[in-house]
Order: sequence, then C-alpha cells, then structure tokens
Amino acid sequence: MGDKMGRSTIGNTVDSIAKWLLKFRIISKPARYLSNSKLAWSIVSRTDRIRTKRLGTRIKNEKLPEHISIIMDGNRRFAWSHSLEREIGHLRGKEKLKQVMEWILDLNIKYLTVYALSTENINARESEELDSLYDLYEIGLNEIAEDSLIHSNNVKVQAVGRIEELPERVKVAIKNAENKTASYSDYIFTVCLAYGGREEIVDAVKEIAGDHADGKIKLENINSIEISKRLYSADIPDPDLVIRTSGEERISNFLLWQIAYSELYFTDVHWPSFSKNDLYEAIESYQYRRRKYGK
Ligand code: IPE
Ligand code: IPE
Ligand code: MG
Repeated sequence: MGDKMGRSTIGNTVDSIAKWLLKFRIISKPARYLSNSKLAWSIVSRTDRIRTKRLGTRIKNEKLPEHISIIMDGNRRFAWSHSLEREIGHLRGKEKLKQVMEWILDLNIKYLTVYALSTENINARESEELDSLYDLYEIGLNEIAEDSLIHSNNVKVQAVGRIEELPERVKVAIKNAENKTASYSDYIFTVCLAYGGREEIVDAVKEIAGDHADGKIKLENINSIEISKRLYSADIPDPDLVIRTSGEERISNFLLWQIAYSELYFTDVHWPSFSKNDLYEAIESYQYRRRKYGK
C-alpha cells in the first residue's frame, strides 16, 4: 500500500508539473510530451485504481443496497464516439454486463436487475439491429448457463417481460439459463427482455380482474399488495438504487411500479465504458442520500 501511495503521489506531482509547464509557451512541447508519456499514463491509471480501491473500502463499511437495477443505455453512442459499428457497441455492452455482475457479486449484493430490451425497442428498432441483439442475448444467456462464477456463487438467473414476443432461439437460451440455475437462491440476476413497466402493470391488472371474475378476490381486497404479488418478479424486493448510464434522465418504462421509493442515479458514461469506479460512485451517492434522510 505504501508503495502504491508513493506512486499515486508521484502521479499527481507529474500532472501538476506538466500543467504548470504548459503555461510557458517555450516549454509547452516537453510538457505535452510529459503529460502524454507512457509513464505519466501508467501513473495516472494506477492512481485511478488506488482511488477505486479506497472508495470500495469506504462503501463496504456502510450499508450497501440490497437490490441494484440498471438501465444499460448508450451502446450506440459509445460505438459512434469510437468510430465503431453499432453491433460492436452492443457487443461491448454485453461484455460490460459480465464485468458488472462480478463487481456486484464481490460486493455481496443479492439482487441485480438489468434492462436489456424494452417493448418499445422491439417496435422501434430496425430488424437488422434487433437480430444482432437477439444473437447477443442468445449467446450471453447460454454463456451464463455455463459460467463457473454463476455456479460457484449460486446465482439464480431469470428473464422477465413479454418473453413470448422474443424469437424461439432466445426463448430456448432463457430456458437453458433458468433451468441450470433454478435451484440457486444466494443471488438473483434478472434480465428484463421485451419488458415494459406499463405492460407489466396491465398484465397484473388483467390477472386480478380474472381472479375477481372467478370469485377468487373481492373488489374491496384489491390493493397495492395484491398488485405487487402479480408482477413478473413478485418475489424480488423493490430496487434500492436505479442507475441509468449515458446521460438520459428518463425511466423509459422500466420497473414503474417497483421504483416508487428507489434512489435514482444518472451518469453520463456510456454503458460499455461504465467502470468499477462508476458503480462505486453510484453506491456512494445512494449511501449519502440515505444517511441524509436518516434511513
Ligand atoms: C442500449 O443502448 C441498448 C438497448 C436499448 C438495446 P442503445 O442502443 O439505446 O444506445 P444509444 O442510447 O442509442 O446510444
Ligand atoms: C432504454 O433505453 C431501454 C434499455 C436500456 C434496454 P432506450 O435507449 O431504448 O430508451 P429511450 O428510447 O432513450 O427512452
Ligand atoms: Mg438508448
């Protein structure tokens, strides 16, 4: 730790020397070299790692959220900003999810729910884009079904939404991931696919109306608990924290009913660039807000 601390101090010093030198025109060239040099970058990246580690220790000392939900947004903007194909943006997004799952398991957070495809996406996106997304869900779910991390941590995997609207190959992959993890309960990983919050409420209301017609529930007994019981993932507590990446400050029809009291956190980073530090900062912000309101 002492050694790392030393390097972090050196990193800051190199940075401030370079900034100071840049003020003088005559030496701006060597200064620019210094700030672009491999050494300076390696010091800066080490400094970042140390900062993340410290933040990790801090957040682990306080009550962590039990359920984190993420609106994984910004794959295409990530691709465009790096001059990559749209499909590569989605691929990087899928790879990012694997990493984030590891970070969540490391924090011992029981519930992770992610928004991977909305009902609106199915109607609004070109079929070519949808096909490549479906390929990624199929591959991703089949990978998860065999993932040693999932099995060693007893992670139950489930998909919720209007699954019937998905192509057969995705449905088969969902069944595969669900069947192979059905006996687990230490962690619950939920993927929202062909999902819409309003549709979920409509489906719950239809079920309750059916139960009422069949004489199973009286009108006066219909309340928010009865609605909650009929949601897609009724056994999961409401999210404590909802994170949306990529700068949009919207909910886009995600878990409308369940987020009544969730803390919402918006960050500008595109989903494929989301870092461990970004996750920790979101949690730190959640903990700060809870502390402020004495929760
Ligand atoms: C999120 O990224 C992935 C899905 C919605 C399937 P987007 O594809 O929405 O990317 P942006 O927000 O347009 O950059
Ligand atoms: C929300 O992102 C849905 C997912 C992340 C799966 P969108 O990119 O589809 O949402 P809007 O269109 O910006 O509201
Ligand atoms: Mg988007």
